[in-house]
Amino acid sequence: MTVTPSATSRAAQILSRPITLNGLTVPNRIAMAPMTRMFSPGGVPGEDVRSYYARRAAAGVGLIVTEGTYVGHESAGNSSRVPRFHGEEQLAGWAKVAEDVHAAGGTIVPQLWHIGMVREQGQNPYPDAPAMGPSGLVNAGAEATGKAMTQQDLDDVVAAFAQAAADAERIGFDGVEIHGAHGYLVDQFLWAGTNTRSDAYGGDPVARAKFGAEIVAAVRERVSAEFPVIFRYSQWKQQDYTARLAETPEELEAILTPLAAAGVDVFHASTRRYWLPEFDGSDLNLAGWTKKLTGKPVITVGSVGLDGDFINAFQGEGSPVKGIDNLLDRMEADEFDMVAIGRALLQDPEWAAKVLADRFEELKPYDAAALQSLS
Ligand SMILES: Cc1cc2nc3c(=O)[nH]c(=O)nc-3n(C[C@H](O)[C@H](O)[C@H](O)COP(=O)(O)O)c2cc1C
Repeated sequence: MTVTPSATSRAAQILSRPITLNGLTVPNRIAMAPMTRMFSPGGVPGEDVRSYYARRAAAGVGLIVTEGTYVGHESAGNSSRVPRFHGEEQLAGWAKVAEDVHAAGGTIVPQLWHIGMVREQGQNPYPDAPAMGPSGLVNAGAEATGKAMTQQDLDDVVAAFAQAAADAERIGFDGVEIHGAHGYLVDQFLWAGTNTRSDAYGGDPVARAKFGAEIVAAVRERVSAEFPVIFRYSQWKQQDYTARLAETPEELEAILTPLAAAGVDVFHASTRRYWLPEFDGSDLNLAGWTKKLTGKPVITVGSVGLDGDFINAFQGEGSPVKGIDNLLDRMEADEFDMVAIGRALLQDPEWAAKVLADRFEELKPYDAAALQSLS
């Protein structure tokens, strides 16, 4: 890494500590949050994607979590420009991304993704593939517009995640992140709003976590014991920003315990504003509760370094810079272990280097125009 942390800065002292996640040592506490960019025609990440990630690793990001990348199941996605984590050409492209990030001093995991009922039949990259999910519902209270998955469908998707994880290790990645957040397939099972099944995969929180836990266990079986498996989850859904998986710490524990038991090494608790308490009576955010309930290392995320909520980014809204003292206080208190940065890093590849060197006055506001290119 080409970054020299400032010896005196509080940010550097807290954020530049290495951390070991299962068998992986990450050089510091800063992760790049997964962000879909749609710059991979045919699902193949090319030179521009390689340099986009490598630039950020060279400028101090310890762990890159790639944009969501489709597992090898034809119903997994809805765009030909989102990278895929299956197919020879696609995996060869990814292998080069990992190589470049390593050469720049960083570590990298792919975010493995199946969008479930967010897909509509007829969409690319496999227009004939049906839209499917736990109950064929895209949202709570919606009419079924897709297929309720059969046991065979469930087994196929579990196998596709496991294959992608095995491929990730084979082609040189440092771990994997399973996308269990934001109302996509795995989260459609976790959330009662989209999971109305009456078999072993629906019902109470433990039953709703069964599918996610099966994916984790199958992944675990196909990778080395020391290969880190990260699980990202959220309360909010892209179908409903106010939705919650768990109203109480007890409900959250019921969901997270089977996932942890299946072999999750690290949880990535996705919130839109990291400073908001998750449950009454405590300042802990969702990541803080996750660490307290599971004892696992946890990544926090959500408006770090920025004032505006990222949801508005999709409406073209920018955001002014915000200080990170609250984040540093929480990290110093060991509320969580790592922090993922989304828009601020999308805007500015040098964000981590600036923060580690105490150059806060050089941080840039987020401008939604940054979405237009892979700069
Ligand atoms: C353009 C864009 C694309 C995103 N794509 C993904 C994705 O593929 N997977 C995912 O889990 N989250 C995705 N997110 C959410 C981010 O990972 C992150 O949680 C969110 O932006 C909040 O962090 P921030 O406030 O630092 O931007 C995306 C966010 C943005 C702005």
